[in-house]
Amino acid sequence: MTHDPTLHAAPLTEDGAGGWVVTGHAEVCRILADHDTFSSRVSRHLAVPNGMDPPEHSRYRALIEPHFSAARMAELAPRCQAICDDLVGALAHGDAIEAMAGLADPFALRLQCAFLGWNDSRHTPLQDWIQQKNAAVASGNPQALEAVAHSFDTTIRTILAERRSRSDAFPDDITTALLHSTLDGQPLDDAVLVSILRNWTVGELGTIAASAGILLHWLATHPDLQSALRRQPEDITAANDEILRIRAPLPSNRRITTRACTLAGIDLPAGARLTLMWGAANRDASVFDAPLECRPARSPAANLLYGAGIHACPGAGMSRMALDTLIRTTLARTRHIEPARAIETQPASSPASGFALLGLHLHPLLPEKSA
Ligand code: HEM
Repeated sequence: MTHDPTLHAAPLTEDGAGGWVVTGHAEVCRILADHDTFSSRVSRHLAVPNGMDPPEHSRYRALIEPHFSAARMAELAPRCQAICDDLVGALAHGDAIEAMAGLADPFALRLQCAFLGWNDSRHTPLQDWIQQKNAAVASGNPQALEAVAHSFDTTIRTILAERRSRSDAFPDDITTALLHSTLDGQPLDDAVLVSILRNWTVGELGTIAASAGILLHWLATHPDLQSALRRQPEDITAANDEILRIRAPLPSNRRITTRACTLAGIDLPAGARLTLMWGAANRDASVFDAPLECRPARSPAANLLYGAGIHACPGAGMSRMALDTLIRTTLARTRHIEPARAIETQPASSPASGFALLGLHLHPLLPEKSA
């Protein structure tokens, strides 16, 4: 079994920069359940609704939830299928491919644009912007980060202005619906709209792409599970959730204490900064028997992949549907997936998760013999 240092780590440790890292499952659950003590208001920047606490959070959460309704997901599903058919169809030729740039990244980008109703002309600017953001994060330069944030806000404001000036030219999609949303009878101001759209694009593209890469890599390196899912594709959603429990696509989220409290036997003052490590909590051996073993039949109740409590991910249903479609299509259109030696596989560097490079072969189905 692979050695995992987080398996035996203390549930709460200092991060070396004045804050705390939470890795215990019980401690993370306690924080998620007690938003009065553990606030999500961790930044001075507006973050709707993830950086809010009740009662403000509840009002904005109610505003965004209808956009993830079953009806919206039913509209998105065939578009998601078409994206997967297109991408996988072009790659299932058996030669070595780099599956992050070739499959996982464009899958995430095209899915999010389809969800928002943004046409293909938005793909390249958004992709460029994400690369600039990754470079700025890697450089650690606050001015560079400020500049990319500003450039993204400008892009979103341009999209909003275009929609307002030519409202008849756009369909009744999610961006249009959001633009016409009201809160207490008032239209949303641009800062709120930009924050919501930033969260749904930039916030999630990386997580979806990382998830796609982790799942494809896992199946390529676990041929028994791959064969089992080819035989029983109805098990794919449970298997995806279980793989992503072990290999977290979203590394962490933050909280700040509003008052003095005790967590894992440690006294914390008001204002203590906490980083919740999803992957470590999801591999806590006191909750998950043999936590590094992929057991899709395990009860999903304790899996924190999509969080829990009032901030639990509203995009969970959409992500499950999309990742299920991607894996189902990849398995249906290939006879075997395996790692490619010719292309290096490289883990993503922190704070990203999953893979920076992923070498794979997608072996095509054999032609049917003519009678
Ligand atoms: C595999 C993909 C995804 C994973 C693993 C994931 C995971 C999570 C987690 C763990 C949280 C809780 C954060 C916290 O408690 O601080 C969260 C919140 C959130 N997620 Fe996701 N997410 C995914 C995809 C998406 C997508 C596709 C969207 C939207 C299009 C989305 C929108 C949100 C929003 C708006 C919140 C904040 C909710 C609130 O504060 O009430 N997520 N997500």
